[in-house]
Amino acid sequence: MISPITPPDVFESDGCEHPSYACCCHGWRSEIPYGMVNSPDSYHERVKDYSPDRIAPFNSANKRSPQARKIEQQLLIQRLDLRPGQRVLDTGSGGGYLVDGFPKSLRDTGTIICSDASEHFIATVPKPFLPIVCGMDAFPLSRDSMDRVCNLAGLHHVEYKDRFFREAARVLKSGGLIAVADVRSGTRPARWLNGPVDRFTDIGHDGMFVAEGEFSALLEKAGFSEIEEKHEIYPWSFEGWEELVDFCRDLFRLAKATREDIEAALEECLVITRDREAVTLEWELTYATGRIPE
Ligand SMILES: C[S@@+](CC[C@H](N)C(=O)[O-])C[C@H]1O[C@@H](n2cnc3c(N)ncnc32)[C@H](O)[C@@H]1O
Repeated sequence: MISPITPPDVFESDGCEHPSYACCCHGWRSEIPYGMVNSPDSYHERVKDYSPDRIAPFNSANKRSPQARKIEQQLLIQRLDLRPGQRVLDTGSGGGYLVDGFPKSLRDTGTIICSDASEHFIATVPKPFLPIVCGMDAFPLSRDSMDRVCNLAGLHHVEYKDRFFREAARVLKSGGLIAVADVRSGTRPARWLNGPVDRFTDIGHDGMFVAEGEFSALLEKAGFSEIEEKHEIYPWSFEGWEELVDFCRDLFRLAKATREDIEAALEECLVITRDREAVTLEWELTYATGRIPE
């Protein structure tokens, strides 16, 4: 369990014996009228396989090659319209790659909460971010307590995506913004993840990707307005081929593959461009935003 932190007033207190900012019991007692109260999302079962050894390569890939996913990160951050002093909830944070790119003015003055169902991932989130262990279907946070909610590349693990959007709408203040980005079904990244990544990782990969328009429909159903959805295609950039292969091996935890397996699968599934300066891998995600009506 992560070490306790001093919770700001945004955390719910409902008599649970666990510290509310470090437990996910609250989900199943939430005020949200879930249709399937006793059906936790399938990811909650997988979390037990997320050992410290399994999450370490993901974090080290992002740390070793911080420029690789920079455009992907900034495309989401731009959509969040971040301001000093705001309260921001990042969900499915992993080791905190997205919040690491937040502007210093917000990091110095705001409250940035990182949440993930994996306590081992959350234990690696650096200060000053506030770590909480919880699913994407229930946040132990008060209603109307957040200015922003975000998610980068976590929703393809979530079966009941409508619960995430309902929870986000509950914790966001009026005028608050949500921004999410994830893999679209039928794209090269979707085939890569449920193909070679599924075969070459210890626990497989069964991504539940989004269809065109799905984010918009989910946002509308949860009560968001000013909805925008756009599919973005951009490069992941590396200094050379070796760096690209190392990055993919570790980010996707391809422990069952030889280097040759990884190289062949990358060439086969994804678009790779080499020039004198750099090697790039084409990646793509669907980005979507919405606002809680004032
Ligand atoms: C591909 S990683 C993305 C991490 C980080 N957002 C990034 O872009 O580097 C997906 C993350 O979502 C988390 N996750 C997946 N399903 C979840 C769920 N149902 N509830 C909470 N976290 C979940 C995983 O533990 C993992 O940290």
